[in-house]
Amino acid sequence: MFGIVYLGVFLALIGSTQGVQKCHGHPSTYMGKPCASTTWFHDGRQGACGCGYDGSDQQFTWSSSKYTAAANQLFFDQGGAQWCGQSCGLCVNLTTTGGSAPGGVDTAEGQSHVFMVVDLCPNEAPNLEWCAQTQNHPVNRYGYGAHFDLENGVNQITQGLNWDNVEVTYQVVNCDNAVESMTPTNQKYHQCECYKLSHGK
Ligand SMILES: *[C@@H]1O[C@H](CO)[C@@H](O)[C@H](O)[C@H]1NC(C)=O
Repeated sequence: MFGIVYLGVFLALIGSTQGVQKCHGHPSTYMGKPCASTTWFHDGRQGACGCGYDGSDQQFTWSSSKYTAAANQLFFDQGGAQWCGQSCGLCVNLTTTGGSAPGGVDTAEGQSHVFMVVDLCPNEAPNLEWCAQTQNHPVNRYGYGAHFDLENGVNQITQGLNWDNVEVTYQVVNCDNAVESMTPTNQKYHQCECYKLSHGK
């Protein structure tokens, strides 16, 4: 009886253990690679690259259900554009460090997935903790030079990957080199308003 009670308390403690940041430096790196913090979200809107159905603010089904992300302002557009940034349609290969950003849960190291940038995480409340990097102050509150807010429209992050604000290293890659069908192809970006306006990659 007591044993069972203690086991329950023990498991509860493990479950609530705060994460550890493995990235260090300014901006932080891990094994020589630049680090990023991540969060997850879903708002159903077309986002700042215009990846949504004509005449509505509703995002494309693929934008909601595949690996897509909103990037911090500095990554989204160095010049500060809030619509059709230079990084629209760009893909980033995110690899878990085994650590997590504050408030997150540590996850096994070395899991890589490729996400397409389709939206902006603006440098304004309530994102100041994560997305306030600027040219003059190129890190967020926790030392990361980049932040990716991951689309969770079909629970592909919280359930599919079981990621909760994991810490990652990142690398820009060609979307079409990704091995998983969950990564949108370059062709998908061609449906977005910003591609049609010749913005983004
Ligand atoms: C993503 O990074 C991992 C780990 O470095 C690597 O094995 C994988 O090939 C990369 N994926 C792409 C598409 O570059």
